[in-house]
Amino acid sequence: MRISADGKFEGPEGYADWVEAWADDYGLMPQIDACLLGGGMYPGYEQYWTGIGNEPDKPAWITGKAPTPAEVAWARFAARTPHYVLSNTLTAALWPNTRLIRGVGDVAVLKQQPGKDIYLVGGARTTAGLLDAGLVDELRLIVYPLVAGDGKALFATAERRHRLELHKVQQLHDGRISLVYGIG
Ligand SMILES: NC(=O)c1ccc[n+]([C@@H]2O[C@H](COP(=O)([O-])OP(=O)(O)OC[C@H]3O[C@@H](n4cnc5c(N)ncnc54)[C@H](OP(=O)(O)O)[C@@H]3O)[C@@H](O)[C@H]2O)c1
Repeated sequence: MRISADGKFEGPEGYADWVEAWADDYGLMPQIDACLLGGGMYPGYEQYWTGIGNEPDKPAWITGKAPTPAEVAWARFAARTPHYVLSNTLTAALWPNTRLIRGVGDVAVLKQQPGKDIYLVGGARTTAGLLDAGLVDELRLIVYPLVAGDGKALFATAERRHRLELHKVQQLHDGRISLVYGIG
């Protein structure tokens, strides 16, 4: 998840307008074979990556910029990677190879399947809920050099305290910091 220094994952517009590209090449792809998303972010995810997959030379929705090579690579990788969308209201998903799942029990079952890691893409309520349910093993945050002020806090809906163990910290370009935490 990409957050501001004051812990916001989106501004009052309903998205993080300080994020210039929604994928970076941090070597994550080889270790994952499934993606998990909340129903809140799914429609925007589908629209964003479908747009880049279909028209990689045109400015992308939200950022208004030409997709970066890492975004084009993610659009291709995501199109061939199974996706699971946690929702009780969505009835259909157009993204390739996508299945709707209904609750934390389904996530627990998914985690027991053999295979590589599952990438929890977001959004905020899903991340906090799965953290509270003990189903998140690792938290990866990219902190942007910005106090967003108005906006929504990433863990606003978490119901209990979680101790984190710092596994890796890395300074990225443009003043961003990558933090990888294990869940204590
Ligand atoms: N800054 C970042 O890095 C980043 C990354 C990803 C997303 N985002 C942003 O995050 C926003 C979406 O986040 P959000 O917190 O509003 O929504 P969300 O976490 O994407 O989705 C919440 C929805 O997921 C379903 N859900 C979650 N937990 C569930 C459970 N235990 N059982 C059943 N269903 C469950 C429910 O869907 P139903 O109501 O359909 O049942 C719930 O309303 C978007 O604006 C997106 O742009 C930001």
